[in-house]
Amino acid sequence: METIRILGTGSYVPPNIVTNDDLVRNGLDTSDEWIAKRTGVRQRRVADPRVATSDMALEAARRALEMADMAAGQIDLIILATITPDTCCPSGANWLQGKLNAPQAVSFDVTAACSGFVFALNIAEQFLKNKTFRKALVVGGEVMTRVVDWNDRGTCVLWGDGAGAAVLSIGESGPELLSTHIHSDGANGQNLQLPGGGSRTTPITHHSVDKGVHHLIMIEGNMIFRVAVRYFMDSIKEAAEHNRIPVDQIDWFIPHQANIRMFQNISQTMNIPMEKFYLTLHKYGNISAASCAIALDEAVRDGSVRSGQLISMPVFGGGLTWGGAMFRW
Ligand code: UT7
Repeated sequence: METIRILGTGSYVPPNIVTNDDLVRNGLDTSDEWIAKRTGVRQRRVADPRVATSDMALEAARRALEMADMAAGQIDLIILATITPDTCCPSGANWLQGKLNAPQAVSFDVTAACSGFVFALNIAEQFLKNKTFRKALVVGGEVMTRVVDWNDRGTCVLWGDGAGAAVLSIGESGPELLSTHIHSDGANGQNLQLPGGGSRTTPITHHSVDKGVHHLIMIEGNMIFRVAVRYFMDSIKEAAEHNRIPVDQIDWFIPHQANIRMFQNISQTMNIPMEKFYLTLHKYGNISAASCAIALDEAVRDGSVRSGQLISMPVFGGGLTWGGAMFRW
């Protein structure tokens, strides 16, 4: 039967590793023990100052296209999920399209913070289902380390940089995207903001820079934590119920990589073995829209995910935004 197929996945993280101890050595009032215990993060990747989001997205896209055995010239649609595009205009996806040399495609960004990759999958799914486009490249890419305040220990320790991609098509064989589910709550999204570049913070002045309004702001992280756990669980259940698959039959949970304690909590409440959560946050931190895309690619490439297995991808992020995707690999 013709359904949405994943023809290839790819990812890229920059080579520069910054450990928790490096942050302490740089003068941050924290410790490896605190960060590892409260978040699960041991290190993160930090992009070179000359590298923009589209550069990493390009690497991830090339790897996904290579796995799909496809040329960039065959792609009809390019969607980049990001809250750190190279520039507000052109979009990050436009920069990526130019670098890929894919003039036949249409490209645009999706802004849904850490949920962005699933939102972008959802949009690609609609276009492919209604046959507007036949082949889509969906990418999540972020340079989060460039927007955090490195003096804010409650926030900066969480984030990292990278990109993950997937090539989707309508077809009869191969890993299948069974469904996507997306939600938002704009009335309750104020505790996680990235005001930089928006109309509330422009024109950029000495005063606004001195006030630090261009940084990622996170208020009441522990409240965000609790809301995230609830929406992760809702999203797992929603995708499972939609596909009439009992949660205990799902082989892998490849979530947005926010905080290991969230998944320990979910594991206990929903009786899901911790080994079923595929996690990369210990080595990469939270890479916003790229996190789950990178984790999916790594799970595929290291052989963890095998043909026929069921994968649930729950996400949660600023906005608020949340949702999930279900795959049969
Ligand atoms: O993709 C979604 C994006 N957002 C998130 O995923 C964030 C969700 N929230 C979290 O992951 C957690 O709330 C944090 C990791 C951000 C914080 O952990 P917590 O266990 O909720 O800590 P807390 O905010 O309740 O702070 C406890 C203490 C405070 O000290 P006092 O007031 O008890 O003296 C903080 O100042 O920990 C202190 N603290 C730190 N200490 C050492 C906060 N950050 C640090 C740090 N190192 N890096």
